[in-house]
Amino acid sequence: MTSITSDKYHLPHGLDGRKQRLKTFRIALGFFRGILPPLKQLFSMYGDTFYVNIPNRPVTFFFTKPDDLREILITNAKNLRKDDDYTNPKTGLARFLGTGLLTSEGEFWKRQRKLMSPAFHTQRVSAYADTMVRYADNLANTWADGEMRNIAADMMNLTMNIIAYTLFTTTNEEDSKRVGHAVDVMQKSFSEDEVLPMWLPTRARKQIKQAEDDLNEIVYGIIQERRADLHDTGDLLSMLLLTEGENGERMTDQEIRDEVVTLYLAGHETTANTLNWTFYLLSEHPDIEKRMHTELDAVLGGRIPTLADLPKLKYTEQVIKEALRLYPPAWTFSREAIIDLKIGGYDVPAGSIIQIMSYFIHRNPTIWENPLEFNPDRFSEANADKIDKWAYIPFGGGQRVCIGQSFAMLEAHLILATIASRYRLRLKAGHRVKPFASITLNPQGGLPMTVHKRG
Ligand code: HEM
Repeated sequence: MTSITSDKYHLPHGLDGRKQRLKTFRIALGFFRGILPPLKQLFSMYGDTFYVNIPNRPVTFFFTKPDDLREILITNAKNLRKDDDYTNPKTGLARFLGTGLLTSEGEFWKRQRKLMSPAFHTQRVSAYADTMVRYADNLANTWADGEMRNIAADMMNLTMNIIAYTLFTTTNEEDSKRVGHAVDVMQKSFSEDEVLPMWLPTRARKQIKQAEDDLNEIVYGIIQERRADLHDTGDLLSMLLLTEGENGERMTDQEIRDEVVTLYLAGHETTANTLNWTFYLLSEHPDIEKRMHTELDAVLGGRIPTLADLPKLKYTEQVIKEALRLYPPAWTFSREAIIDLKIGGYDVPAGSIIQIMSYFIHRNPTIWENPLEFNPDRFSEANADKIDKWAYIPFGGGQRVCIGQSFAMLEAHLILATIASRYRLRLKAGHRVKPFASITLNPQGGLPMTVHKRG
């Protein structure tokens, strides 16, 4: 769709690039500073709800009111599909994820989601708690008092090791690392690769191809090995290999490959960034950090945490939830309207994109009091019930809500407790942290922090 007009449709305020060329140009200039500043400008110009219509792009609607989000993700779930950014096999995420949970649609997605859900129930995921703590503790053992670290790199390695182990427990570490490296190369090259025509053999494209070949060789190799001696080793791959559909059918090698790569990608960078933002916010708010340390010391008394400790580490969990509000790692996701829709009373014609931006929803002053303030008490037992379910969506919502939510919260909670009971992290003096919105929201250029042993 290239044009919509307000005499035909009931539209919210918006930016029409064909009529408002100068305004569009001014906003577009802001993109040189990253995608967040021009988006911020649009939200402050148009408020809760608006659309953007730029030539050669689908019309895009932005909704931030909780009632509208409920209408989108629940009432109209069946009238929306994941758009080309996910599903297009040439230009979307599907290019290297294939048809895993994140990128698949319709009946196939429904079947896969049903097959995979048991593996992500809190009970099964809890079995990974010891692994999570062990890896976090090992990392903390490599730190020296007063040392400057790039915490973003540390958190990325840590969560990558954890997802590799929980996916393929019995596979050698070398292969797990090669998978991680290949996913990393593909993801980085993919983000840098959108401008030039697809037929150009750029360096990024050669790297993607190489990484893709590597990845397939290792993952298919692991699948073959496991099929030869099929039993439940307790890891996620076992579950994918053993699970059966209603008619006893099992997943094919390619289906398993696509789900493995999807879980690898979806399951580490998001959690790494949750921890990055948490450590950054704690460093900026020593009073809140002190209160969390008091809780950790009272419950753990210096020992490493276990699953059984978590219900007592409530404030520590509130800190993570509040970090996820201010800096949701999956800061935006989108859908395409399959048919003409009405959302919040406005027309959303078929073919339009609905962009759901948790980052701006979580900072909307009409929903949140003092939205920019870091205040974990918002999530205390007494206050949490007052939060509208649709005002806080770090894990999305509706039928496609994050399948790894319990896994991620368990992991972040245990890692924060393990590290913060031993170390206090301080941002390098003079370093300004800037959020960079790519596939995930990350601290641009890393997170230089000094690690101080706690007494
Ligand atoms: C703090 C960490 C995480 C955040 C913030 C997060 C966020 C999200 C969000 C917002 C979605 C919904 C996207 C949409 O509706 O378009 C999603 C989906 C998904 N996430 Fe997560 N995620 C996290 C961790 C994980 C982990 C640890 C795993 C797996 C081990 C995982 C696997 C997935 C998968 C497979 C989907 C697609 C689900 C479907 O469409 O059925 N995520 N995640």
